[in-house]
Amino acid sequence: MRTKTYFIQTFGCAMNEYDSERMAAAAESRGFIPCEAASCADLIIYNTCSVREKPQTKISSYLGRARIYKEKNPDIIVGITGCVAQQEGEALLKRFKTVNFVAGTDAVSRMGDIIDKALSGIRFADTGETSGVFSIGEFSRRPSVTAGVTVMKGCENFCSYCIVPFVRGKELSRKPDEILKEVERLADTGVREICFLGQNVNSYGRDLSCETDFSDLLKMADRIPSINRIRFMTSHPKDFSEKMIRTIAECEKVCRYIHLPLQSGSDRILKAMNRKYTLKEYMDKLDLARKIMPDAGFSSDFITGFPGETEDDFNDTLKAVEYAEYEHIFAFNYSPRPGTAAEQMGDTVPDEVKNERLTRLFELHGRISDARLPEFVGTETEVLVTGRKDAGVFTGCNTCGRNVNFISDTDMEPGELARVKITEARRGGFSGVLV
Ligand code: SAH
Ligand code: SF4
Ligand code: F3S
Repeated sequence: MRTKTYFIQTFGCAMNEYDSERMAAAAESRGFIPCEAASCADLIIYNTCSVREKPQTKISSYLGRARIYKEKNPDIIVGITGCVAQQEGEALLKRFKTVNFVAGTDAVSRMGDIIDKALSGIRFADTGETSGVFSIGEFSRRPSVTAGVTVMKGCENFCSYCIVPFVRGKELSRKPDEILKEVERLADTGVREICFLGQNVNSYGRDLSCETDFSDLLKMADRIPSINRIRFMTSHPKDFSEKMIRTIAECEKVCRYIHLPLQSGSDRILKAMNRKYTLKEYMDKLDLARKIMPDAGFSSDFITGFPGETEDDFNDTLKAVEYAEYEHIFAFNYSPRPGTAAEQMGDTVPDEVKNERLTRLFELHGRISDARLPEFVGTETEVLVTGRKDAGVFTGCNTCGRNVNFISDTDMEPGELARVKITEARRGGFSGVLV
């Protein structure tokens, strides 16, 4: 008999990617092997995101294709998981006859049983929440030098535009020893860079009976041998503390590269977004981090066209981007999400204006970044090697997330750290030589 295959299509954030890895392990525990495309899979899982409207509409088109595969082979199992699944549950089963199961964000831990039930011919939705301690058991992963590790789930910040608190529920942290054991296990399999994941990692530990906070967790992980680098995502600016800044500075392996999403440079809009910080409070934290770590890099998310955003508000965002000199920015047009507070404010900024602001924002950031490029030439940077490009040419990523290709006479293995002198700096990445 032919071995059955699975394919998982992942949308959204790194936490969804982590969940997809857990689901892949569950499928493999049921005898499925991975395949390269949905068109050749016996089990197709769409792990969805609902943070903006577009990813949601994308699913309908993917399901359209899955229906065609299923017409040829009615035994194919199609599952919808992730945030759209959590949000819409049963409704998806009714709307799309192609779908065999809908499994919400907490159902990932039950995926083995869910696959069994779907194989037995039952169509169902499982959007039940798991109560009690948040724990993730051991699961096997594909070999890699970098890996994400979810440290907590949920979000209780309720930024007015955001669906995440509704689809990911209350903040729950994994126990520190469980996380550290996972990191040790990953190190044993060859992982050298880990990224701690949570919607707001600064809230880590608030729900635990032990006293560990996120700074403590970073310090403990910093001591794990064989791990060369530690990253984390995402830090909410309101909770990004001096303690955190000092911890990053003290820890040898924690990257001095911080994703600190500002969202808007206008205090009026920040208030309407319920972000709970002002532009000044945010920039004071960024300045303090730069004072303590002059080599630190930052990145940020922005939303353009939030309800009521005027040209003046948007100009404040441009000014903030000019001041902060971010390494990278991620910006999105505002998309009203059902049930959020901002939905009640209407979608007042026309699409053309949103698009035009988005373009201006990226253009400004591009100009600022380009102007800084010559400063990097001649400086040294630390690169985590991810592979070889050519004979004597290696590739990797520096602490600030830039791609670096470099020449080296000595052979380098993926996962090793290299000190590289930059000889050329372009928007898409740096070139250099091993020091
Ligand atoms: N927890 C993270 C963000 C998670 S969502 C944080 O607080 O920063 C990732 C990004 O998507 C957000 O930072 C925001 O910029 C964007 N986003 C969230 N909801 C959105 C919406 N309704 N419309 C447009 N962008 C949105
Ligand atoms: Fe959404 Fe705000 Fe929570 Fe981030 S902190 S996930 S933007 S509600
Ligand atoms: Fe999207 Fe859910 Fe992540 S809405 S951004 S997949 S938490």
